[in-house]
Amino acid sequence: MRRVTLTQFLIQRQQAGKINADLRLLIETVARACKAISTRVNKGALADGHGTVGTQNVQGEVVQKLDALSNEILLEANEWGGNLAALASEEMENPHPIPTRFPKGEYLLLFDPLDGSSNIDVNISVGTIFSVLRCPKAASGELCEANEAAFLQPGNKQVAAGFAVYGPTTVFALTVGDGAHGFTLDRETYTFVLTHPEIRIPADTAEFAINVSNQRRWEAPVRRYIEECLAGQDGPRGKDFNMRWVASMVADVFRVLSRGGIFMYPRDAKNTDGRLRLMYEANPMAFIVEQAGGAATDGSTRILDLEPNALHQRVAVILGSKNEVERVTAYHKKK
Ligand code: F6P
Repeated sequence: MRRVTLTQFLIQRQQAGKINADLRLLIETVARACKAISTRVNKGALADGHGTVGTQNVQGEVVQKLDALSNEILLEANEWGGNLAALASEEMENPHPIPTRFPKGEYLLLFDPLDGSSNIDVNISVGTIFSVLRCPKAASGELCEANEAAFLQPGNKQVAAGFAVYGPTTVFALTVGDGAHGFTLDRETYTFVLTHPEIRIPADTAEFAINVSNQRRWEAPVRRYIEECLAGQDGPRGKDFNMRWVASMVADVFRVLSRGGIFMYPRDAKNTDGRLRLMYEANPMAFIVEQAGGAATDGSTRILDLEPNALHQRVAVILGSKNEVERVTAYHKKK
């Protein structure tokens, strides 16, 4: 079978008029940065990659050395290419403007540089999530100032999104709005090769992913859904369910893309707005999951239609196999 690299895939998309040269370069640059992060993640303790830097980020979370390093790698790789107006990251309170010595472009890049970072030191898969928006334009046609307000667009405005998983293999999942596709890093040629074209998530599943340690704080609809799954064949669902929870969204969502399933981080009595971040976790994942035929809601509203009000806003997330997501969403509506 002829191997299609990420570069070839993107050039085909460009030739078909789906993306322009600037967006192609941007995606390639993000993918290149992911390769560099993958290499550092793989070196682990050999390259002083474990442990924390001793500070907290804007979310009040302890910053791991690899969080900070991955953030630097993504910033350095992307700020000079002339295709971005600004960048925003989980690790930075405010958007990062393009330094004046570099040309500016029309896109906004958001990322979670190292998702699942509590798993780094224990050798479990982690990853990088990214989302691309267009910088809004004023009536004159000029690009607006690339401040926080410029980023606050609903997920349905994303022009590209994806994520890398640094697991047994490094995979890069991508959508530019015409399906979801997965690439595997070939470490001999150092290229991403298309290995999962046209991903489709089965509409039905018997596998759920949720952190059950939060059960006592869940709202009634989520409690009901999980109780029915746990009741298995003897319960109202009439079939046994399996549970998986990696605690790295990237790995859990890649599993959902690969074989179906439902992934949930609902709001609860402690995380009243949910736990995951809308702009650089939920939105890109919702985009790619929908492009693979799945669904993503916050319990009542489609994630991609939520109007954001802050860069680091949190949100409840229910995504994956369509029929199961619709069931949980319907339970919320009945409530
Ligand atoms: O954002 C963070 C994240 O690490 C996700 O990747 C993951 O799904 C979740 O948090 C894990 O949360 P918990 O520690 O509650 O299992």
